[in-house]
Amino acid sequence: MTVRRILTVDSDMTTLKQVSAPAAAVDDGLRRLMDDMLETMYAAPGIGLAAIQIGEPVRVIVMDLAKKGEPPAPRFFVNPEIVSASEETGPWEEGCLSVPDIYEDVERPIQVRLRYLDYNGAVVEEDADELYAVCIQHEMDHLNGVLFIDHLSRLKRERAVAKVKKAARADA
Ligand code: NI
Repeated sequence: MTVRRILTVDSDMTTLKQVSAPAAAVDDGLRRLMDDMLETMYAAPGIGLAAIQIGEPVRVIVMDLAKKGEPPAPRFFVNPEIVSASEETGPWEEGCLSVPDIYEDVERPIQVRLRYLDYNGAVVEEDADELYAVCIQHEMDHLNGVLFIDHLSRLKRERAVAKVKKAARADA
């Protein structure tokens, strides 16, 4: 497993805006990608990562929502789809490894039903709520080139990107 560089909005906006293509098959090559993504996400650290965030435009997501002190609980999503979403929406404070150190409330459906292929290529259908629902919708946005800051007002979005750029310059 390899920790890969996570693309960020200050230097990689064009790639992050790409729409990812469905994975053709869940094979060893794709599992290697998922392993790298998980390693990269844990190293960051973060709770979710889409393949495009390491520059791979394929519809794959990794996630681990285990709380501090709980054993790791990695989840893998290949070609995920939202089957249905609740009409009720709610705000949740989101952040993103590609938009470091920015946290803002985003309004989304509070419950969704998902269908995806797991690490072994089996079809899974399940309901997600709370943090799981937020995280999967956030990550699935990445597959369509959408960032959580795209859900904010233009002013807040531009301010967020400017802040990330300024921090990147300070680090350089
Ligand atoms: Ni993100």
